[in-house]
Amino acid sequence: MPVHVIVGSQWGDEGKGKIVDHLSEHVDIVARYQGGANAGHTVVIGKQEYILHLIPSGIFSENVTCVIGNGVVVDPAALLEEIEMLRSFGLAIKGRLLISHNAHLIMPYHKLLDTLREEQGAKIGTTGRGIGPAYIDKFTRSGIRIVDLLDRDILCSKIKINLEEKNKMLKQIYGKDELNVDDIIEQYQEFDKQIDDFITDTSYYLNNALAEGKTILAEGAQGALLDIDHGTYPYVTSSNPTSGGACTGLGIPPTAITKITGIVKAYTTRVGNGPFPTELTGADGEQLRKWGNEFGATTGRPRRCGWFDAMLLTYSARVNGIREMALTKLDVLSHLDEISICTGYRLNGKVLKTFPTDEKRLNNLQPVYEKVPGWKQSLTEIKHYSDLPVEAKQYITQLEELTGIPVRIVSVGARRDQTIFKDV
Ligand code: GDP
Ligand code: IMO
Ligand code: MG
Repeated sequence: MPVHVIVGSQWGDEGKGKIVDHLSEHVDIVARYQGGANAGHTVVIGKQEYILHLIPSGIFSENVTCVIGNGVVVDPAALLEEIEMLRSFGLAIKGRLLISHNAHLIMPYHKLLDTLREEQGAKIGTTGRGIGPAYIDKFTRSGIRIVDLLDRDILCSKIKINLEEKNKMLKQIYGKDELNVDDIIEQYQEFDKQIDDFITDTSYYLNNALAEGKTILAEGAQGALLDIDHGTYPYVTSSNPTSGGACTGLGIPPTAITKITGIVKAYTTRVGNGPFPTELTGADGEQLRKWGNEFGATTGRPRRCGWFDAMLLTYSARVNGIREMALTKLDVLSHLDEISICTGYRLNGKVLKTFPTDEKRLNNLQPVYEKVPGWKQSLTEIKHYSDLPVEAKQYITQLEELTGIPVRIVSVGARRDQTIFKDV
């Protein structure tokens, strides 16, 4: 199992952090390949909850080396805060974290422009972490990379050139004060001192590790429906969370990937704006939010909640190559007498064959639901698949049949030990 990719199958927050932490015990390396501090991955060990934004969720497994790949956009302020948080819990980071020299840096103006754009019209509902503007600079080839921190002259010159343009935007478009170039240079030189030890050529490191027979867990952030190419554009993030992103975002070949697991919430949530065919508005949605404690791990925003959507999942499985599911938060459905599953879509009287990714059709289609009985008993202490209530097993089988993807892991609580392996 050289490279096992873990992808979010819906709109993010499926429980990737929890599952990656659990699977980390059996691998050598855990690597994040895209996104930035927009991610919020929760790991609960015993009574302690940790929320990670940039550092891979393998950090709690002592023998694992964590890698932040070239595809990630790194906010050094957020990174240092996270390192400090982990150190305060006694975790050793030195020697266990590697950051790609090719990863792009999030700069103060990225965060500012992200927020201003949202305030003045974009209304994507971003996390405000500067993700979009940082990837814009990467793709217009004006971005500043981690490697630039290593050369004071290059760093100063790049910050100056960028700030000239960004200050014009801040002033002329948004009517805001200009940022001070010297302050930013000083701040980033200080960051350099603190993260210098972690910087390396991670693609070289990962490929050598593969040659030595080591195993890598590639940890996706966000989810397939937030993918810039395959998601519900424009209500997406600015990177490729889908499995293909693991190759470009880590500098490893597609041939190294041997397994792709989709993390799938037993219902659906979305934070931020954009279409959501199976959304439950009103009291039913609020109930689900309360039972599932569905509030954003990064921004604290209430997550929109709705039923499981087999059309969406089948699409996600296609664009990711998902061959197995880890089904999370099944325990949250324990309160319900009856559970609805979306089995198809109808638009203008016609049945849709595939998940549409344009806003117009997504907003106008009608989901077709099937109702199945609930189990009305707590699942949180169940350790073996065979001990699940018959209705819970029927629900799982139904999802497997509708999507054609087997469920291998069932999660029945936030804690590490609330994880059931189906075949064990
Ligand atoms: P991620 O971004 O995909 O890592 O997911 P988040 O951490 O943003 O959100 C998942 C939330 O659900 C977190 O609060 C987890 O602690 C919690 N969680 C994960 N798996 C389960 C589960 O099986 N049951 C319950 N009740 N909570 C879970
Ligand atoms: P994890 O890894 C859920 C959403 C935002 C917004 C859109 C664009 O924890 O699953 P961005 O700040 O990326 O430009 O925002 O994407 N979003 C997420 N939603 N989970 C995430 O990450 C998300 N990261 C971004 O809410 O709708
Ligand atoms: Mg999250």
